[in-house]
Amino acid sequence: TRVDKGGHKHFMAKEIAEQPTVIAEAIGHYLSKSGEIRLPDPQIDFANVDRITMVACGTAFLACLTAKYWFEQIARLPVEVDVASEFRYREPPIPARSVALFVSQSGETADTLAALRYCEGKADKIMSVINVPESSIARESDLALPIHAGVEIGVASTKAFTCQLTVLFLLALKAAADRGEITEEARQDHLAQLRRLPALMAEALDQSDAIAMTARKLSNARDVLFLGRGPLYPLAHEGALKLKEISYIHAEAYASGELKHGPIALIDENVPVVVMAPRDALFDKTVSNMQEVMARKGKVILISDREGLSEAGEGVWDTIEMPDVSDAVAPILYAIPAQLLAYHTAVAKGTDVDQPRNLAKSVTVE
Ligand code: G6P
Repeated sequence: TRVDKGGHKHFMAKEIAEQPTVIAEAIGHYLSKSGEIRLPDPQIDFANVDRITMVACGTAFLACLTAKYWFEQIARLPVEVDVASEFRYREPPIPARSVALFVSQSGETADTLAALRYCEGKADKIMSVINVPESSIARESDLALPIHAGVEIGVASTKAFTCQLTVLFLLALKAAADRGEITEEARQDHLAQLRRLPALMAEALDQSDAIAMTARKLSNARDVLFLGRGPLYPLAHEGALKLKEISYIHAEAYASGELKHGPIALIDENVPVVVMAPRDALFDKTVSNMQEVMARKGKVILISDREGLSEAGEGVWDTIEMPDVSDAVAPILYAIPAQLLAYHTAVAKGTDVDQPRNLAKSVTVE
């Protein structure tokens, strides 16, 4: 199938804009109107699972790190996450009653495939979350869940990431129900929040022009820090990764609470700090981390909802406003400003957005 840019300047812009549609697609494939989560056979009963080992590379790895918060907090199921290249050579023991879960857009990443083969005969079940149903990783899994993102051309992954998160969130809710860790009311509440997501993402995309203005300022930076807490911590990594990949600006992510254990030494008026902080249960703690940055003349870009911005937005360098969203699905929504910030910064710098130097869409060699 031939894919064009559909009127956008870059494939990446098109793929960012497609997210409300493809997320709705992905939800529609796995969730019935009445709220039943339906997975293909063989059925896996998570009541019989004591641990999930998740393995991936790049952006897919960051989707795994996010899903760990969901599986552990909502389903009370312990999760180990590792990058494929470390996992395979460490030769970790795989305890009984484990599921090994591999996440890969292409389904062909060499290290991820090798990690899958390492788990064969050791884990009870091999599962994968992939975008290409005919891929090697899908074929070699007991159960492969397609993310229905459609073809992704931009080397920097965008819509595949949010579709991976969507499928993993549904899987965590199924695990929670299987294990009797969630009331039907709480489960339906999470599903209602998930179903609102395409509309919220469309609202977030409306901020694109405003984010482009922020990005113009960011494009002069040499180093940028990203901070987040809880499920927004892996997303801080995704924001930093996207920025590095396509704008070539050095970016690093830290858990907000780790700021004082090192990165605060870097803060001065030349280092912008992107803070991803919806007004969630840990908001006040993140705000106090942010104030430590501002006290050292750091330039804060605060991404939050209206209430969060009015409570903590004073004195920051710039703000990006997101619609209100539940704590659990916040990382899926906040992926949009993370992607747009990187995209517009790269455009401002004039780099090759869809084909960044030295990077490949699919890494099929070690
Ligand atoms: C490459 C791509 C990334 C991607 C990673 C994993 O590094 O540039 O965008 O996240 O591979 O790819 P996969 O196909 O396994 O998700």
